[in-house]
Amino acid sequence: MCGITGYVGTEDGIPIVQETLRNLEYRGYDSAGVAVNDGDVAVYKQAGQVEDLTVPATSAASCAIGHTRWSTHGEPTDDNAHPHTDCSGRIAVVHNGIIDNYDDLRAELSDRHTFTSDTDTEVVPHLLEEELTPDATLQEAFERVLERLEGSYALAATARGHEGIVGARQDSPLVVGHADGGHFLASDVPAFVEYTRDVTYLEDGDVVHLTDDDVSVFSDGRPVQRDRRTVEWDAQAAEKGGYDHYMLKEIHEQPQALRQALSGRIDELGGDVELDLSLPPEFVESVEEIQIVACGTSYHASLYAKELLERYADVRVTTSIASEYEFSGGRDPWSTLVVAVTQSGETADTLGALRRANAAGARTLAVTNTVGSTVTRETDETVYIRAGPEIGVAATKTFASQVVTLTLLSVWFGRRRGSLDSETAAEVLSGLQRVPGAVQQVLDQDARVRDVAREYADEEAFFFVGRDLGRPVALEGALKLKEISYDHAEGFAAGELKHGPLALVTPETAVIAVLTDGGAPEKTLKAVKEVDSRGASVLGVSSADDAEKYLDTMLSVPEVGVAEPVVANVYLQLFAYHVADLKDRAIDKPRNLAKSVTVE
Ligand code: M6R
Repeated sequence: MCGITGYVGTEDGIPIVQETLRNLEYRGYDSAGVAVNDGDVAVYKQAGQVEDLTVPATSAASCAIGHTRWSTHGEPTDDNAHPHTDCSGRIAVVHNGIIDNYDDLRAELSDRHTFTSDTDTEVVPHLLEEELTPDATLQEAFERVLERLEGSYALAATARGHEGIVGARQDSPLVVGHADGGHFLASDVPAFVEYTRDVTYLEDGDVVHLTDDDVSVFSDGRPVQRDRRTVEWDAQAAEKGGYDHYMLKEIHEQPQALRQALSGRIDELGGDVELDLSLPPEFVESVEEIQIVACGTSYHASLYAKELLERYADVRVTTSIASEYEFSGGRDPWSTLVVAVTQSGETADTLGALRRANAAGARTLAVTNTVGSTVTRETDETVYIRAGPEIGVAATKTFASQVVTLTLLSVWFGRRRGSLDSETAAEVLSGLQRVPGAVQQVLDQDARVRDVAREYADEEAFFFVGRDLGRPVALEGALKLKEISYDHAEGFAAGELKHGPLALVTPETAVIAVLTDGGAPEKTLKAVKEVDSRGASVLGVSSADDAEKYLDTMLSVPEVGVAEPVVANVYLQLFAYHVADLKDRAIDKPRNLAKSVTVE
């Protein structure tokens, strides 16, 4: 995730903002930059690490903003690094999020402004340049710019001849720190926690103006009071945004990650999706098979996508574990699209499968999280899942973002192949837009999931079952639990239990059932009854209230249609996390595993 920082006070701003950027390094980034305002504005930015950023050792500027960038629009280059400036260089802006309508704004501005980057952010300083007339305050001009923006953002700006920093928040976090002799602004408290623990969390729609001796917050143009709180973290927890582990932090980042995956891609009125793909229409209409290659969690996301692509795009879809593709892949390349699903974009098995497809002459597409990764250079097309960096070895938020992005891809294909009407597409898309909120509802149950984990932690083995779209989630739930708790966990299609695995079910084992819409809950319940009569404890993640009577424990899933199993999966992530934490496992770095598996 990008990180924003800002400082205005009585000290030299450069070393302070550099320090705050170092404190945000845990979020992951590929470029960094600083702008200082000592009456005039100067910008220092480049691709690479904060420690490599070339800035003056000292300055007379007691006002500075900073940024760590995780690329979503444009490669990680010096030009694309933040802060971005207007044509005259008197305004500097840093941004976290995505400006959905940047294409339109850029087209409108480009005849009178010179753009120097490929980013969506750069429209903001140019808009501000137009609004910051001699009789306007920075805050007034900034508020007029915000009226033009669609999308998600945390923004901070400073300008020559204007005091302090202005900031705004919409669907992307921004927090103010109140210190002796100055104020801070940041995406996350750890940026400035060594200077102050006295904070104000801004709300969506808030605009803030910070000077060295004042913080004013506005909503709809009127001053508002926001509560001040004291954070109680130690330095180690601060590195992880206040969470004990990156995995837990990343589980909790899912609502924001999902909003980013959806941002600017949905035309709900038209029942359509915009993915910036240039696949020729005649190929899209005539393609006979989509072959998906992936590993681990990405493979489970692919199994989910297969069901939706077949349903919406009326096309044959095969999913291959990438390391197995060498034995079967590469057939009928002229009528096949090969889709490589990989969070890192660097997984050797997935790249190997892709190279086989390329060698056979197939058209290829990458679905990845990582701008500039190897997979993006070796495929014809790329769709980003925009989840932000994932540091915990266990993939969590990227699974949800992969499924949501692949659902968008399914609708995109369906609309272009004429197999999905606009009303049905609009219904699917409206369900997808409710997913971030539904995931938040599940996250709000974190304490209850810990209690449930405590009840189940000592079971001898765990069997996860689901059907239809619930099956990939059952497989993923089992993978998550086994890799971080080291417990024996297996996932099955619920209908398969009676064909063998049922022999393993005893009163000392637990069964976890995915009983949501999209997951044929009434059929999965049959398996639940089979295991119940063998004495196993059954935990259900369910959106059907009437399932409760068959379960020992039920965790309720909000109703969001075909994406419900993805929401249910958040319970399974939390369950795995808490079971592992109760056993004191090395959650972020489980034994024998690596985040990016670059060997075959
Ligand atoms: O980066 P990728 O998505 O290609 O990685 C594939 C697997 O190694 C990965 O999904 C792995 O299974 C997860 N980290 C497990 O949580």
